[in-house]
Amino acid sequence: MERHARIYIAGHRGMVGSAILRRLQAEGFDQLLTRRQAELDLTDQAAVHRFFQDHPIDHVVLAAARVGGIQANNTYPAEFIYQNLDRGQRDPCGL
Ligand SMILES: NC(=O)c1ccc[n+]([C@@H]2O[C@H](COP(=O)([O-])OP(=O)(O)OC[C@H]3O[C@@H](n4cnc5c(N)ncnc54)[C@H](OP(=O)(O)O)[C@@H]3O)[C@@H](O)[C@H]2O)c1
Repeated sequence: MERHARIYIAGHRGMVGSAILRRLQAEGFDQLLTRRQAELDLTDQAAVHRFFQDHPIDHVVLAAARVGGIQANNTYPAEFIYQNLDRGQRDPCGL
């Protein structure tokens, strides 16, 4: 990836996303874009569409997810698969 590429890191405060953010910063990427869930909920299709219209983005790192432990995964399997598929399906480009 080009150092000046505009990169949106979804889930940048999480365990995976924060590590990716630190690595990209250390590598000199200088156009990193982040939003907390409270600022941009990836399950809100209209908000996601507006965000990508307002911000020209070259690459997306998708590290946002609803994550649970073994107990939570066993108790709420449908909720987890539904919510996490939903994040991946939001189509910012309208393709
Ligand atoms: N942790 C691991 O060792 C590991 C290993 C391999 C794969 N993974 C995968 O990596 C992904 C992330 O895991 P993690 O451990 O980093 O999770 P995490 O620490 O719980 O972080 C999840 C992040 O997702 C964001 N998020 C959740 N729902 C969102 C929504 N509706 N809209 C926008 N942002 C949302 C949260 O944002 P806020 O902070 O703003 O609330 C948070 O920053 C998961 O798919 C997981 O299965 C994790």
